[in-house]
Amino acid sequence: MKLETQYSLKLLNTLAIQSTAEYFVNAENTADVEESLVYAKQHNLEVKVLGGGSNVVMADQISGLVLKYSAKQCVVLSETESTIQLRVDAGLNWHEFVLYALEKRWYGLENLSYIPGSVGASPVQNIGAYGVEVKDFIVGVNGIYLNSGVYFSLSALQCEFTYRESCFKQKLNGQTLITSVDFELSKIPNVKIGYAPLNSMTEEQGMPTPKELSEWVIEVRKSKLPDPVELPNAGSFFKNPVISSAYFEEFKTEYPNVPNYPQGDVVKLPAGWLIDQLGLKGKAFGPVSVHKNQALVLINNGGTGADIEFAAAQIKRLVKLHYGIELEQEPRVFS
Ligand code: FAD
Ligand code: EPU
Repeated sequence: MKLETQYSLKLLNTLAIQSTAEYFVNAENTADVEESLVYAKQHNLEVKVLGGGSNVVMADQISGLVLKYSAKQCVVLSETESTIQLRVDAGLNWHEFVLYALEKRWYGLENLSYIPGSVGASPVQNIGAYGVEVKDFIVGVNGIYLNSGVYFSLSALQCEFTYRESCFKQKLNGQTLITSVDFELSKIPNVKIGYAPLNSMTEEQGMPTPKELSEWVIEVRKSKLPDPVELPNAGSFFKNPVISSAYFEEFKTEYPNVPNYPQGDVVKLPAGWLIDQLGLKGKAFGPVSVHKNQALVLINNGGTGADIEFAAAQIKRLVKLHYGIELEQEPRVFS
């Protein structure tokens, strides 16, 4: 275990916030994790787990020990004629895993191509895109409780996955380090092209192969979402809010053009549209601005975590004032 002190996290978060960890360990294996937990216990340090830093808003100073797990193996647990179960280490880059699975002809993750971050964080907010969520492929999640050092394996059901949520963000928030995730993928292609603009691309170009679908998703994402290397961001800054069907009926009379996604007796609305309609695209709040093409993405132009939280609070306030809808922040505050 290599213990660093006063370690800069600027290159380890996609909002490029200048942040310093009191202690930092890049754990290459579980032995490193165990040693880090002992060190933290002996020195009374809180342990905070960091993945690829693509969904966190960093404070200037992070007290305690920041632990990043970097093991990257992928092993086959079992297989049948039509399915394969894999155990994938948390430190593997998510998109690298998607490409590896495609190369092996293990299918299902195509729509989740090009999402930044690590495999280990994928269950934390149940990553999703283009009509697919990772929960549909997760069989179980393995890790260690930071406080007790006890290893756990939770079934998908126990993870309590919902839209951008899981037990790891709720009742176990900040209490675990996920070391690996178990997935079940299919050996039989089953492309999901129902979500715009994949459906219109299919109409124009015909049914894609899984590899082509992955390429389409990458192309769409590159055209819609800014590259954090050029414009530091954390993807969607707010979750898409859900309102009751009754409130939606009222809402629609005032905003007849609002895109909407009915889900049983509630309706999901695009937060990007709500913010866009307020004329906030490109608007700067100090060093933080709303992206000029995608109103749900905040760009950090050299600001701190506090600057980002300030901008987010202004946007939330305006949305609440104009629509009576409460937005919920997607990225976690890391402090
Ligand atoms: P981090 O940002 O490092 O951490 C996020 C949270 O997970 C923190 O609370 C952290 O403590 C915890 N965590 C991380 N690793 C572990 C672990 N091993 N064990 C326990 N806890 C852990 N998300 C989507 O769902 N869909 C999208 O389409 C999408 N698009 C994006 C596009 C861009 C340009 C960006 C920048 C982000 C996007 N995101 C999207 C958000 C982000 O990619 C995901 O949330 C991703 O899973 C975060 O992974 P990470 O490794 O960077 O996690
Ligand atoms: N829209 C606007 N103006 C904007 C942005 C969006 O009018 O500035 C409208 C669009 O025209 C569209 C609707 O809002 O009708 C939805 O937009 P889009 O398809 O771009 O998706 P989104 O709701 O902004 C969600 C996820 C993304 C995911 C995409 C694709 C959330 C919070 N965001 O974005 O996930 O990649 O769908 O599935 O659910 C993330 O979580 O970080 C993320 C990027």
